[in-house]
Amino acid sequence: MTTRTFSGPIPFQGIVRVPGDKSISHRALMIAALGEQPCTIKGLSNGDDVVRTRQAVESLGAQVEIAESGEVTVTGGVSGTRSPIDLGNSGTGIRLMAGLVASFDFTTTLDGDASIRQRPMDRIIAPLSEMGASITGSGDSGSLAPLTIEGRPLRGIEYILPVASAQVKGAVLLAALRAEGPTTVHETVPTRAHTEEMLAAAGVSLERGDRSVTVWPGKVDPPDIDVPGDPSQAAFWLVGACLAPSSRLVVQNVYLGPARGGFVEILQRMGAEMIVDPESGNIEARSSELKGARVASHELPGCIDEVPILAVAAAAAEGTTVFEGIGELRIKETDRVAAIAEMLVVLGARCQIDGDTLEITGVGRAEALGSGTVDSRGDHRMAMAAAIAGSVGGGSMTVEGFEATHTSYPSFARDLDASRGWTP
Ligand code: S3P
Repeated sequence: MTTRTFSGPIPFQGIVRVPGDKSISHRALMIAALGEQPCTIKGLSNGDDVVRTRQAVESLGAQVEIAESGEVTVTGGVSGTRSPIDLGNSGTGIRLMAGLVASFDFTTTLDGDASIRQRPMDRIIAPLSEMGASITGSGDSGSLAPLTIEGRPLRGIEYILPVASAQVKGAVLLAALRAEGPTTVHETVPTRAHTEEMLAAAGVSLERGDRSVTVWPGKVDPPDIDVPGDPSQAAFWLVGACLAPSSRLVVQNVYLGPARGGFVEILQRMGAEMIVDPESGNIEARSSELKGARVASHELPGCIDEVPILAVAAAAAEGTTVFEGIGELRIKETDRVAAIAEMLVVLGARCQIDGDTLEITGVGRAEALGSGTVDSRGDHRMAMAAAIAGSVGGGSMTVEGFEATHTSYPSFARDLDASRGWTP
């Protein structure tokens, strides 16, 4: 286990480029695997989660070449599997992959690490089974990984998402590509739209309504793609710049599509000085005086992965920040509600949890944040949130299990060292 200590405050200044968006990277590899022509992917995320998906599509029969520049060329082809496929820590990887393989005429076992084996898979088993898929899960409930999927012909369905989840929507839409008849997914709260955006770009017949998407089965012709920067990673730097003194930082080329930029709006509501350039995808943030704000449950899907770092912002802010509808956070890479509560104790902020509402009363300014030790619990976003808290506060923060950052942002420590410095 790697332990690192981050001390502050040191200004966050300059220009940062974050890894390619993780959600887009998974989908780029999977959609490329379903195509017939080679397609090139630039800027693919180099995190462990996406490496697992790359290995998974290779094991299904796609050919993957990686140039020295990092550019990846995928020649599609799904022909069989050297099962089991290990998706590591990746909920997106395992859930989307279940939809992708469900209609192919072979048996696949999808598995992952100890965290994945505890995360609910019934949310994809239900709609995919309704389409005719045969999925056998593990555990007493039969709804945990490893999942054994025996390929079957599928039929299109009309499905109302019972949870706001882009992973579930994506799994159903990928399965729909080879089903008989159209499939429509309805959502009550919009979630990230990468699957439908990328399938449309790949020439799939698709209709997008206000809160629904219909996919007709057909061929996939994936275009070459340049993956934009990951807004969820940008959030760490931008909160750092808002909280640290004398800071002015630009994160370049960030994806600004639907349901991903909620954290910017929330930080601006808290008083953050941030400017978004929609043309370039550049986001600038400066040292700001933050105050508490209310985040309603319908906003949560648009900032779901940013709550750990928003909690750091709330811990430093003056007043109380309320996050409503946080239930989904309990079933992420770890129980993030518990993990955030533990981190807030160390930071000296007051934290109250009432059902699915989290209230954080901040210490008023970043310099007053407390010092101590936080366990990442193997969760990349908790490790990075704690590292930023240590870097903006007046004391220091020791992060245990810092290696979890490799899940999505292997160069996070190096980038942070380059701009700020850490003490081992
Ligand atoms: C993702 C969807 C979200 C998000 C995850 C990535 C995706 O999960 O938390 O990091 O790429 O579809 P849910 O679908 O569980 O909300």
